[in-house]
Amino acid sequence: MIEVPHGKPEAPADCTLCPRLVAYREENARKHPDWFNGAVPSFGDEKASLLIVGLAPGVTGANKTGRPFTGDWAGDLLYATTDKFGFSTGDYAAHPDDGLELTGAMITNAVRCVPPANKPVGAEVNQCRPFLRNRIAALPNLKVILCLGKIAHDSTVRTLSLKLRDHPFSHASEYPLESGVTLLSSYHCSRYNTNTRRLTPEMFESVFDRARTIISG
Ligand code: URA
Repeated sequence: MIEVPHGKPEAPADCTLCPRLVAYREENARKHPDWFNGAVPSFGDEKASLLIVGLAPGVTGANKTGRPFTGDWAGDLLYATTDKFGFSTGDYAAHPDDGLELTGAMITNAVRCVPPANKPVGAEVNQCRPFLRNRIAALPNLKVILCLGKIAHDSTVRTLSLKLRDHPFSHASEYPLESGVTLLSSYHCSRYNTNTRRLTPEMFESVFDRARTIISG
């Protein structure tokens, strides 16, 4: 287990730390009062050996449904892959009441509130980092952290007090850490990356395969 100061692993739904994100959330809440419109909590198994770190909720995905990657394009590939590698049970149906459960895995986001244009600014990533740190610290069985994309990777490296210079992001990068946890990364399973085939399902699966192998140890 990684030793970090004790604190809350989840932001309150009405978190006020980032003024720009609060303003965007309030704008969305005015337009769509039936949406979740809050800091999206992590989803999954408190006994997880795998923590998947995404970027931030999509406006009509997790921000609408309240569950990471749920209703997002990215969720279709992510949840198909968790299923394939035995990290989830039940059928993903893009809705938080679909009965899907993560088994031995948890999904969180580097930034918990939806950012305009899907792009958090550096100050927002920094502001949200204590929740990531506390999320990691609260998982006693953690063996692999799998970061989706460079922003999640860099924020996780900083969270763990590691040097970015020594742990650069690349697809399928793998860093065994002194704590015993392995830091893996993948290109983000976004619509853009999958449509352009920067990330193919096979590439994504091979990272999950590696995670499964490390966990099975
Ligand atoms: N939805 C999320 O919850 N996170 C992402 O990184 C992308 C979509």
